[in-house]
Amino acid sequence: MSTEPANFSLLHRTCKLVVLLCLLHISITVVFYVRSLDIRLAFVQNQQSHVNVTERNQFTFRTGPAEAVTPKGEPGKGHPQSGVQEAEDPVKKLDKCPETSPLLVGPLRVEFTTSVSLEEITKSNANLRPGGRFKPKDCEALQKVAIIIPFRKRDEHLKYWLYYLHPILQRQQLDYGVYVINQDGDEIFNRAKLLNVGYKEALKEYDYNCFVFSDVDLIPMDDRNIYKCFSQPRHLSVSMDKFGFRLPYNQYFGGVSSMSKEQYLKINGFPNNYWGWGGEDDDIYNRLASKGMSISRPNGEVGKCRMIRHERDKQNEANPQRFNRIAHTRETMHKDGINSLSYKVVKLDKFDLFTKITVDVGKP
Ligand code: BGC
Repeated sequence: MSTEPANFSLLHRTCKLVVLLCLLHISITVVFYVRSLDIRLAFVQNQQSHVNVTERNQFTFRTGPAEAVTPKGEPGKGHPQSGVQEAEDPVKKLDKCPETSPLLVGPLRVEFTTSVSLEEITKSNANLRPGGRFKPKDCEALQKVAIIIPFRKRDEHLKYWLYYLHPILQRQQLDYGVYVINQDGDEIFNRAKLLNVGYKEALKEYDYNCFVFSDVDLIPMDDRNIYKCFSQPRHLSVSMDKFGFRLPYNQYFGGVSSMSKEQYLKINGFPNNYWGWGGEDDDIYNRLASKGMSISRPNGEVGKCRMIRHERDKQNEANPQRFNRIAHTRETMHKDGINSLSYKVVKLDKFDLFTKITVDVGKP
């Protein structure tokens, strides 16, 4: 008889404990639920900002006749031509961009039958800074890339390049600038020397750590072909339509390539004495190989690209000395390169879509 109240008190205490445990469980659940709401909200905002970038970058082909090739903004006016290096924006500290950009779409339709106008291209790339500069606004780009284009009298090609490449490079989430290095005068063309000039001039403006060297008439057909640098020098234009979408030979390093600052300096930059068409890219390959580097490449599908068909330019005839020069790269590369480069800047124009640097590179 006397055990009954004792049993009741034990039952009472057990019930209290169970209720307390339930309350604790409910509070923990509520805390976790509220925190997961925060995370989901941030994720949705992030997704929306990516969608906005993609929408802004949708291609819109103009069907009307081509307009005169006059970049918006008078050269020299509107944008300061300062040689002073830019500082990083100290205010915003962003997270690093992901290794693979979520904005990429893969294969692209590339064609050159419809004309494009600089005005339209400028309008659909309103997020560029003067001189054709861009950096993602929601994350910190993994590389600072200067894109160097050797150039002379190819304005129609340049328009297609800008039309296709700006949206691609933005989807690739790069911090980049476009530098068109225009050879002044009518002397014989020197592609590799112009590339050296581009390297040097771009570094005067910003602390670039990667350099993409691109012909003006080559357009990638897949935005997964990232215009950045890799642990080995990169050859990007690996499947050109001109060569039946395959490499013409294993050592081919022409068209579009990229190199980090370290890789470029290791080979003393590019040769300055290849005047006219051909051989300079083979010389660059020899330089890389002689320093023990190998070539990194995307696969044949991702590396597909189209070349804008054209006649051979005047003053860019095949260089008959190229075979002899290529045979002696190892002996010449240490005295001919970025360490022996000399040129004169004639004009520097900061247009909306690109920086144009007109240079006197001399003659053979
Ligand atoms: C030339 C290179 C050129 C390649 C493909 C070679 O013979 O030396 O400069 O890129 O052919 O056209």
